[in-house]
Formats: sequence, C-alpha cells, structure tokens
Amino acid sequence: MDEIYQPAEDSYLMSRILKEQLPILLEKNPNLKFLEIGAGSGIHLETAFNYGIKKENIFSSDINKASVTHCNSLGFNCIFSDLFENIKGKYNIIIFNPPYLPEDSREPKSSRLITTAGKKGNEIILKFLKEAKNYLNSNGKIFLITSSLSKEVNFEKLNYSAKEIGCEKLFFERLCIWELVRKTFLTSKFTR
Ligand SMILES: C[S@@+](CC[C@H](N)C(=O)[O-])C[C@H]1O[C@@H](n2cnc3c(N)ncnc32)[C@H](O)[C@@H]1O
Repeated sequence: MDEIYQPAEDSYLMSRILKEQLPILLEKNPNLKFLEIGAGSGIHLETAFNYGIKKENIFSSDINKASVTHCNSLGFNCIFSDLFENIKGKYNIIIFNPPYLPEDSREPKSSRLITTAGKKGNEIILKFLKEAKNYLNSNGKIFLITSSLSKEVNFEKLNYSAKEIGCEKLFFERLCIWELVRKTFLTSKFTR
C-alpha cells in the first residue's frame, strides 16, 4: 500500500495561508465551497472545518486510496480521483499541495506517487491548471504550492492571474503559495 503523506513544511505553509485567508473569504461568503485535490492526511480539511467552512461544503480527493480511506475515517467527503477525473461541480476555493519533485531513481517507489511529478517536476501542476479553471465558480480562487526544485510555471500562458501570497525559504528549496484567479473572469468584469 502507498504511504500517506505526513504533513511537512509545505503542508504547514498551506495551513498558515488557509488560517489567514479563510476568515476573510468566509466573511464575504459564509457558504464557501472548498475542494482539496490530494488531501493526504486531511490536515487542510481539518483546518477548513475548524476555521468555519461547513462540513457539507468541504470536498476532497486523492489518487492514493489509503488517503481516501483515512480522510473518510476523519468524517470528510473524500473520493478517489486522478486530479479532476471524478470531480463534479464548481468551487469557491480549490487548493493543491502537489507532488512537485523531479524524478530521482533513488526515491523509493512507495513514496513516489505522493512526492514526484515527472522529469521537470511541474508536470502534475500543469495538468492540474489546465483542468482546474473549469471547476472554479465566478469568484473562485486556487491556492497552489510551487517549489524552486521544479521547473517554473507560466501562469499567464495558462490563462490565470497569479499573486504570490506566502513563501518560505528552506535549506534546500523555496516554497511559495500562489493565489490564482481565472483571467477571463477578471476581464469580463471590466468589459461588461
Ligand atoms: C505533497 S502531498 C500533500 C498532502 C496534503 N495535502 C498536505 O498538504 O500535507 C500530495 C498529495 O497529492 C496526492 N496526489 C498525487 N497525484 C495526484 C493526482 N494525480 N490526483 C489526485 N491526488 C494526487 C498524493 O497522493 C498526496 O496525498
């Protein structure tokens, strides 16, 4: 069985951002619909719930069946899905702390699924971003982690407006959280 990703620096950075952002977003809309792709240990589902998102509005998925079973046992709606394959509906917030490491033959097979993306490290992020915009509602935002260890992503080219909202320099890498909004939503606001 594959390992469940245990919260690490990237998870704690995402937690900090959620704790800052959720109260602001919930004040504007108490019925926020929240989706996490790749829920792992469920750490962010707990934060979303503890910071005021209604349980029935918290949705999640993972490609790792052990994570799905674990998050279900915590009482959260979590389904097996490769990115958006089995996801339905539109959301106000979609978060993803993706696997972003470039392939390394020394990495054990049991942890590869949860940490490694491909040759460049940004392959899963690119696939996620191509699909994610179809699951955002009109004011929807994405919180996404990237690392200096993987190839940079051109958000503009993928039709997102991107803002760095929190970064952390670690010994061997720099992690950042991006707030992404679908560009056409911004444009339509000003061309109405
Ligand atoms: C870096 S871990 C993050 C786990 C947790 N969200 C956290 O922040 O601690 C990445 C998670 O994404 C899941 N994952 C990897 N590829 C995926 C895919 N294609 N679709 C859905 N989940 C995926 C992994 O199984 C893992 O649980």
